[in-house]
Amino acid sequence: MSPIVVLGAGLAGLSAAIEAAENGYEVTVVSPKPSERAQSVMAEGGMNAALGEGDSPKRHFEDTIKAGRFLADPEAVMGMANAAPGIARRLRSLGTMFNIRGDEMDLRAFGGQKTRRTVFAQSSTGKQIMSAVIQEARKYEFKGLIRRLSRHALSGLLLSGNGCTGCEVQDVYTGESLSLAGSVIAALGGMNGLFNRYTGSQDNTGAATAILFQSGASLANGEFIQYHPTTAAIPGKRILISEAARSEGGRLFCLKNGKPFYFMEEKDPELKNLAPRDVITREMAFLGEQAYLDLTPISNDAFRTRLSGTLEDCLTYLRLDPRKKPIPVEPGIHYFMGGLLVDIRHQTNVPGLYAAGECCYQYHGANRLGGNSLLGAIYGGIIAARSAMADGCPTGRGKVAFVQETQPTQDRLAMQNAMSSGLGPIRDKAGLERLVNTLERLDKSVPLLAKAIAISALNRKESRGAHCRSDFPNENSEIKNSVASANGREVLFSAREAANYGVHA
Ligand code: FUM
Repeated sequence: MSPIVVLGAGLAGLSAAIEAAENGYEVTVVSPKPSERAQSVMAEGGMNAALGEGDSPKRHFEDTIKAGRFLADPEAVMGMANAAPGIARRLRSLGTMFNIRGDEMDLRAFGGQKTRRTVFAQSSTGKQIMSAVIQEARKYEFKGLIRRLSRHALSGLLLSGNGCTGCEVQDVYTGESLSLAGSVIAALGGMNGLFNRYTGSQDNTGAATAILFQSGASLANGEFIQYHPTTAAIPGKRILISEAARSEGGRLFCLKNGKPFYFMEEKDPELKNLAPRDVITREMAFLGEQAYLDLTPISNDAFRTRLSGTLEDCLTYLRLDPRKKPIPVEPGIHYFMGGLLVDIRHQTNVPGLYAAGECCYQYHGANRLGGNSLLGAIYGGIIAARSAMADGCPTGRGKVAFVQETQPTQDRLAMQNAMSSGLGPIRDKAGLERLVNTLERLDKSVPLLAKAIAISALNRKESRGAHCRSDFPNENSEIKNSVASANGREVLFSAREAANYGVHA
């Protein structure tokens, strides 16, 4: 049994580690911070699982494919939707404190779905799930099957002629390097640090994903960046006002002639304030007015039993009582649908290197359904571990493939500002060309990954899901995934047919 190295200690990483350890494999989990600080802990609204009466994995599959505007991998999505009810039950059996109705897990309505399908723990679902999963991982740590390196960052991938044979990591405090042999599962989260403000963790810099990209792993659909419609800026970041607040009765409005205009209720009379995120974000961007989220119709009881985290966040960070006053909101970067290119088994194009969770593309196409990220992280982690166990580690003596140059602070800030303005909710050719030029000027101190995302956006000459081009306002009838690869300091771009879905708009 060759060992397995998991890069990342969030939900995808721990799911992979537990799956491998349960099967007797030795796993090293590498992360710059412990699991308790992973972005998964910040997930709020819930996790989708077709557990409700009349619901089915097939309906979950269809909603996911439609929301992703037909770019998600249908086979992978079907696998995830089928596994979801079992995953929710397992999490409950591990002790996750889900909200319960009668004897069953309660379900809430979430964006882009016509049925209640989202299990939840108030508005702190990620924290509750992670507490249970961390506890489960401890069992295997105690047995010596899971080893933790919790202040370590990836510094290089080891490649032999046959593929990835391990990686080098560095102690972030002492600078000491360690070489780890084995198959590698990347569970690195999103690429937040390429931008200047987002809802997620500041620790998800994208630096490790950038190393993997420059070591030969391709990027797919990097241009699809989810803007969550209800975020609020606070110093240095954005806080999320969970979609759960709209599920409980919150309404979006802006002012028109001095009166509230409930724009989503006009735009989509069926899903209203729970339309898919890309649809709401686009509407807000085109309206160009300050939007507000009115939570005053929500009962005190619902705040206490289902939204206590949201209430606390508003009181603490916004100094605003949402029971009394609407919250000014705007779209903010929340999730990366694109990521490392993987196949149905979660293997990247580099043998021996797998990817799971937000750092890989697969389940969400052009726009992710709320509630599918925790699910995709757990399911993807399990599948990646099974593939790594089945394949074994490629043979040969690996050498470090690529080392990222240190980035001067002013270049990092220039990159983040350029990425944030060129890749906003509405894009166009001129803005994207300006972005590519800025990144070229910054050259070596900017991860090539940033340029790959910009070039993918420039090349997608259509509006689809989260990628909205004012100069190409319609969906193109050809449904293609974009793939970018590194060739030295150059980005090679190609487009691939996406699979045929049998699901229609
Ligand atoms: O709004 C939210 O609670 C976000 C959930 C998600 O991104 O899945």
